[in-house]
Amino acid sequence: MTSDNLVTVTVIGLGAMGRALAGAFLDAGHPTTVWNRSTGKGDDLVARGAVLAASAEEAVRASELTVVCVVDYDASQAVLDPLAEALAGRVLVNLTSDSPERARAAAAWADEHGIAYLDGAVMVPTPLVGGPEALILYAGSRPAFEKYESTLKALAGQAAHLGEDHTLAAVHDLSMLDFFYASISGLVHAFALAREDKVAATALAPYLNAITSILPPIAAGMATAIDEGNYDGEQANLSMMTASVDHLLHMSRDRGLDTGHLEAIKAVADRAIAKGHGADDWASTIEALKG
Ligand SMILES: NC(=O)c1ccc[n+]([C@@H]2O[C@H](COP(=O)([O-])OP(=O)(O)OC[C@H]3O[C@@H](n4cnc5c(N)ncnc54)[C@H](OP(=O)(O)O)[C@@H]3O)[C@@H](O)[C@H]2O)c1
Repeated sequence: MTSDNLVTVTVIGLGAMGRALAGAFLDAGHPTTVWNRSTGKGDDLVARGAVLAASAEEAVRASELTVVCVVDYDASQAVLDPLAEALAGRVLVNLTSDSPERARAAAAWADEHGIAYLDGAVMVPTPLVGGPEALILYAGSRPAFEKYESTLKALAGQAAHLGEDHTLAAVHDLSMLDFFYASISGLVHAFALAREDKVAATALAPYLNAITSILPPIAAGMATAIDEGNYDGEQANLSMMTASVDHLLHMSRDRGLDTGHLEAIKAVADRAIAKGHGADDWASTIEALKG
């Protein structure tokens, strides 16, 4: 065990994610102090060796590195505002998820109080926290990241520093969540559509791999196409694919299912076609997203 592995750490916020983060620090052998707004959380962590601080200030003063993870930035600032003096000269890592604008405001607050600040986003569910495949994105103070990189790797084997601009973790987080929520909503709608015609979700599920397995190459190809503005639609063009969305709309309407997301998809595709992208790839719809 290197001395870096023994960095003293504090975790503020013991919701599902905060508990997972504190547990990962404990697993890695870090002396870990925890604190939560309401009492009754963290007993399991204490049983594993964590110290439950009597106050947030006591928690911050106990360690050289503080990680905060609460529901949103209103909550994190409510906790952090009275701690400015205690945090001055220390490193604060905020793993609460929120918008880029809130990340920028939190960074300005930290800067004003002499706190080295990293804004982060946890990109995996709690069971994966601490594992080699887990991903946490960081943005902000590079010296702080480099100093504590190996400590932060106790939380996620994949710890990526995106740049000094504090908004970058939130931009990546929300962009990835945009993809995620659209995907799981589409998945639920797909199960609903199948159920209307007496096909059980478990009967459909094994065949969904045909779609999920093509998403990684689609994502990589689309990213290149979008960055280059080159939307070659030779293999599958937007007009053909929009007709397929129409079939989905008709089937869903006939069965009385909600069609809100399908109508939104069709409206964007129709606008892109009207702009001359009918023979292009689906990626070209990005040119119609701003109206
Ligand atoms: N859970 C996940 O799978 C997951 C995955 C990726 C990212 N995240 C992100 O991680 C963050 C925490 O999520 P979570 O799952 O731990 O949420 P959670 O289980 O709902 O816990 C929320 C935490 O926020 C605290 N809190 C709420 N309002 C507060 C306030 N005004 N002042 C002080 N503390 C306050 C709660 O304290 P009390 O106990 O006192 O209410 C609790 O510790 C969120 O930003 C979430 O987006 C979560």
